[in-house]
Amino acid sequence: MLSIETYQQKFVEYLEDYSVVKEPKNLYEPIQYILKLGGKRMRPVLTLMTSEIFNSDFKSSLNAALSIEVFHNFSLVHDDIMDDAPLRRGKETVHEKWDINTGILSGDAMLIMAYQLFEAYDNNTFRALAQLFSKTALEVCEGQQYDVDFETRNDVTISEYLKMIEYKTAVLVGAAMKMGAIVAEASEKDQENIYEFGKNLGIAFQLQDDYLDAFGDPKTFGKQVGGDIIENKKTFLYINALNLSIYEERIQLQDLFSISPTNPDEKIEIAKQIFIDSGATKATKEAIHTYTQKAFGVLESLNISEDKKLLLKQFGEQLMNRNI
Ligand code: IPE
Ligand code: MN
Ligand code: MN
Repeated sequence: MLSIETYQQKFVEYLEDYSVVKEPKNLYEPIQYILKLGGKRMRPVLTLMTSEIFNSDFKSSLNAALSIEVFHNFSLVHDDIMDDAPLRRGKETVHEKWDINTGILSGDAMLIMAYQLFEAYDNNTFRALAQLFSKTALEVCEGQQYDVDFETRNDVTISEYLKMIEYKTAVLVGAAMKMGAIVAEASEKDQENIYEFGKNLGIAFQLQDDYLDAFGDPKTFGKQVGGDIIENKKTFLYINALNLSIYEERIQLQDLFSISPTNPDEKIEIAKQIFIDSGATKATKEAIHTYTQKAFGVLESLNISEDKKLLLKQFGEQLMNRNI
């Protein structure tokens, strides 16, 4: 096994060689732009690591890893349109730099390119990867639709929320790892377990994302801080705040999340204060810890050496201590 940083470096080298710019430039340049913007590259790194955990060279899963990263970036381009987001990784979003139609079509092309990358694999592997990919991609759409539906509802429960983030975020993390296991021809049982590990880590990751969206440092976070509050997103912070706050604050929070003021600064400040005072911030931190531990618990059922388990734990811990 290599270190997490080395997998990341190997992946970025491979990505650098994957040049997509040809005619028409207005289709391909936005793709190049979003793919080269940077980012943690967490999903492809997990694919590479998983193939080595199951005794296959990481090189064998580079195309699957790239497919996951291209799909992920496609989903971000469309998500940023849907969320009206100005910033991604500290830079202008594709639809801001170009326009919405460019974001739609370049995104569509990326989804196709993600599939195309499986053509590097033999029939059986291709089929297994494509099957997992289709299932996962549909679930991501379902998660995205729930997220949008929740914006105009004020009775979203914690369990509905957890299902939404499982679909919009966590299944892709699980799939990234399972793809590494598929390429390495790991047993069905190991494939399932590594998927569960990734899924739980993905839930913790999205909870952390909700937390950072409100409380992250604008200098490091890379997205507009307070974006979820502006968009009236029913995040884990918000739902817990409703459940935990006193009557007056609950009414105030519900009112705040039914309006879209032109200057949202005051709305953001009040909402954050209610998140803290109600104990929602604390509850979110606890849930991040719980899901990370749940992921680590799944590791125990895996038939792999202790040093491999340690590397996966290290990955999980780094993710939960992030500020980007
Ligand atoms: C994005 O969810 C999920 C997908 C792109 C499928 P969010 O909207 O919560 O993520 P960020 O905060 O924009 O990254
Ligand atoms: Mn979104
Ligand atoms: Mn978004």
